[in-house]
Amino acid sequence: MIISVPATSANLGPGFDCLGLSLDFRNYFCITNSCLQTIDIIGEGENFNKLKADNVFVKIFSENLKKMGISDRTFAFEFRNKIPISRGLGSSSAVISAALGMAHLLKYGKIDKQEILNLALQYENHPDNITPAIFGGFNVAVVDNGKVLHLKQNISDDIRAVVVIPNRAISTKYSRQTLPKKYTNTDSVYNLSRSSLMCMAFMQEKWDMLRIASKDKFHQYRRMKQYPVLFAVQKVALENGALMSTLSGSGSSFLNICFKDDAQKILKAMQARFSNFRVLDLAFDNQGLQIEKE
Ligand code: HSE
Repeated sequence: MIISVPATSANLGPGFDCLGLSLDFRNYFCITNSCLQTIDIIGEGENFNKLKADNVFVKIFSENLKKMGISDRTFAFEFRNKIPISRGLGSSSAVISAALGMAHLLKYGKIDKQEILNLALQYENHPDNITPAIFGGFNVAVVDNGKVLHLKQNISDDIRAVVVIPNRAISTKYSRQTLPKKYTNTDSVYNLSRSSLMCMAFMQEKWDMLRIASKDKFHQYRRMKQYPVLFAVQKVALENGALMSTLSGSGSSFLNICFKDDAQKILKAMQARFSNFRVLDLAFDNQGLQIEKE
């Protein structure tokens, strides 16, 4: 069986822990019946021995199969990874949702995406990456009484994402520790208003609103200060026609949204200025988690 899950970008500036979207850039998770357990990683992470010795997909998949009464099966696992690890592009969410999806597919022959989303919350307690990873598109996600409620908007192919991926990893857990525990009323209203405007901009495709709607006072500045070259990344993107330029999740990647026709210009400007960083010109994804082979 094969499941694929897309990369995601969370927060989108002001929507801390509640807004996220999905990118057309996928990891493939394959399992085959086997009398011996084997793990093969192709692509991102293939040189990290730790990912084989202590594999999160295998752990979550096996744990959930066991809960569903299946503990006597062994598999050959093959992971074809494109999503960079610890760069704020949802690699953990992809693994968590694929592992839960695969366990459910094996047991029930189908995947209930809403159920997977609620279960995923125990492994990642902010839903802004897991929701677009599972459903695709632009999403608002809310946790209420331990369940995730979300609304999704498909993203038009008039816009694209130029994603800049620095060579330095950032741990979300560490990066969250640098953030304040309390915010002022002024900063809260600043973020609330822009985050709400961002939702309307995606619904009405008012792309000229994104520049203002993507401003944030909760987390970006503090996080970017830990890695100051990111201020230059944002400046170059906006100077070259990006509609918005935000830290992707907790970083270190940057999400630059632009009109389709401007993507190559921004990509070239980024490559010229930040030659050590990877730069990708990506479409958005509106599918989320997919069963590729049953
Ligand atoms: N919203 C999270 C954060 C990252 O900014 O720490 C993605 O879940």
